[in-house]
Amino acid sequence: MPSENISVLLDEKRVFKPSKEFVDQTNVKQWMDEHKIKTIDDLYKKAENWEWFWGEAAKELLEFYTPYKKVVEWNAPWVKWFVGAKYNIVHDAVDKHAKSWRKNKVAIIFEGEPGDVRKLTYNDLYIEVNKLANALKKLGVNKGDRVGIYLPMIPELPIAMLACAKIGAIHSVVFSGFSAVAFRDRMLDCEAKAVITCDSFWRRGKKVPLKTQTDEAIKDAPSVKNVIVYKRTNDPVNWTNNRDFWWHEITKDMSKECPTEQLDANDPLYFLYTSGTTGKPKGIIHAHAGYAVGTALTLKWVFDMKDEDIYWCAADVGWVTGHSYIVYAPLILGATSIIYEGAPDWPQQDRWWDIIERYGATILYTSPTSVRLFMRFGEDWPKKHDLSSLRLLGSVGEPINPEAWMWYYRNIGHEKCPIMDTWWQTETGHFVISPLPITPLKPGSATKALPGMSAEVYNEEGKAVQNAGGNLVLTHPWPGMLRGIYKNPDRYEQTYWSRFKNVYLAGDVTRKDDDGYFWIQGRADDVLKISGHRIGNSEVESALVSHPMVAESAVIGKPHELKGESITAYVVLKKGIQPSEDLRKTLTDHVSKELGKIAKPDEIWFVSDVPKTRSGKIMRRVIRAKAMGQDVGDTSTLANPEAVDEIGKAV
Ligand code: WT7
Repeated sequence: MPSENISVLLDEKRVFKPSKEFVDQTNVKQWMDEHKIKTIDDLYKKAENWEWFWGEAAKELLEFYTPYKKVVEWNAPWVKWFVGAKYNIVHDAVDKHAKSWRKNKVAIIFEGEPGDVRKLTYNDLYIEVNKLANALKKLGVNKGDRVGIYLPMIPELPIAMLACAKIGAIHSVVFSGFSAVAFRDRMLDCEAKAVITCDSFWRRGKKVPLKTQTDEAIKDAPSVKNVIVYKRTNDPVNWTNNRDFWWHEITKDMSKECPTEQLDANDPLYFLYTSGTTGKPKGIIHAHAGYAVGTALTLKWVFDMKDEDIYWCAADVGWVTGHSYIVYAPLILGATSIIYEGAPDWPQQDRWWDIIERYGATILYTSPTSVRLFMRFGEDWPKKHDLSSLRLLGSVGEPINPEAWMWYYRNIGHEKCPIMDTWWQTETGHFVISPLPITPLKPGSATKALPGMSAEVYNEEGKAVQNAGGNLVLTHPWPGMLRGIYKNPDRYEQTYWSRFKNVYLAGDVTRKDDDGYFWIQGRADDVLKISGHRIGNSEVESALVSHPMVAESAVIGKPHELKGESITAYVVLKKGIQPSEDLRKTLTDHVSKELGKIAKPDEIWFVSDVPKTRSGKIMRRVIRAKAMGQDVGDTSTLANPEAVDEIGKAV
């Protein structure tokens, strides 16, 4: 139980001290004992020697084929970890468990939306991964080749990722909610040789036809030579002979053994696309060994993962949260995880609580958007279920407002589960700013940089500041740090390393309080956070402009009660085209088709011009201020100041 009674705690000054159970028995405490470190302050201090710290962590968590010569090599902005070692993350995630007492331990508890259940042990995973890896090899997929994965939340998604990694191929997973166009663009960028998908999958009682979308995408992606299709729903699909292969057929006669490729520790593991400030998503590169130790240690400490835990990260594997904390880290730790295919309100609004009760989940990791959704459904739904198995809760993706934090704490955690508000990014690979279960918590703050990592808030001059808004920066490399942007080293240097010398710019406006706790306030750049997912303003603008009737568009985010932010688009139509309700709907659907439902504008307004600088840059800040009824500030640098009034008169 928390040592303070929450009813007497006051507004933002609320502090939730850790319970005795956590103080005495956590993994981090055990590590401190083993390293003869007495206090938590001493741990942070000792870990300032981050090279030593991550070397110790690797000793405990990883098994290399051949040892490394150096923990880290830092030639800003390029980093290498465990230099000289031979390694493969699949050895730690699957192979070693299949040869240990965990062989018959359940790795994945899968529940489909219709209620079908499958449990895969580490040995099952080992066999499935090997068979698929052999099938990929048979199709000519080699080390270094890229494989696109377009799958829903079924066990075959982690299996496909692991099979690629096993043979040294690089996977690029695209969220199954993204459109065919978005999938195609990513496959074109990474020049995928093969694609793994399924016939269709369940979402809110309906089937989503992923194979059809795949066909549409790859007809314009000539690098893709083969498609492996998992049969999920048994729906009829179109078929291209010699290109398409059923998963169950191509793996049927494959050997249950497949040697794991002994890679360089810094070989790429995957590319994952994320939105930036241009219309073109960036292919973030992650590598094997550093990423492995960074994800595994942070999960072990922050969520205090033990062998007895039933862990549920309810994110989608299509985003980095799922890559790191559904697939790689839990498997490296030999954990048992839940994977759920479908919607949270199907068939009823208590589906999640029902799942937690039935499997006795002990850890739940989700987003503030989901918490707010459940708040809206009402507290009677969780009350119907026994949630007493839960011991830890987590939050990620966007700042959690204290109201949602308190609701989660009371109604799901029953005031006994600490909430781990983890700040990190696709680029960081793993948690950077996050409490440990022994950290006093303040609702709405992700607390401090974890041991072995270092964050600061810099003002415009690059000076560290306290109690003032500024730029969140990370001041030295960390093991899961991105290794670049695929085919675009300049963009990598420009985006993250050019603002302050040798310091990583995260892109978040942040404040650090008197206790050194960080309060993330939101993105500093033109990137929207919709339900915790990143969408570039310019991506939505490009999608709109790709419609033949649209001349120009400007997209801004507005605060949204549920999703954190909503999308508002201002559209200039081509000469002679008249605004209409039908056109509004057409354009909304068009964006949905180009990018996916998640990027669908909530509002579309027609205007005759949008405010721009003389160099033609759309002034989104000015538009946003006007749209929100705030002071627009100095507009003298605008090429067309009269366009600001247009925003107010939009139809
Ligand atoms: C951006 C990264 C990391 C997995 C999910 C999102 C925001 C993330 C938090 C948090 C406040 C957060 C930041 C960050 N963000 N976690 N706990 N508190 N903001 O990954 O799509 O790469 O987005 O998400 O703005 O920069 P992503």
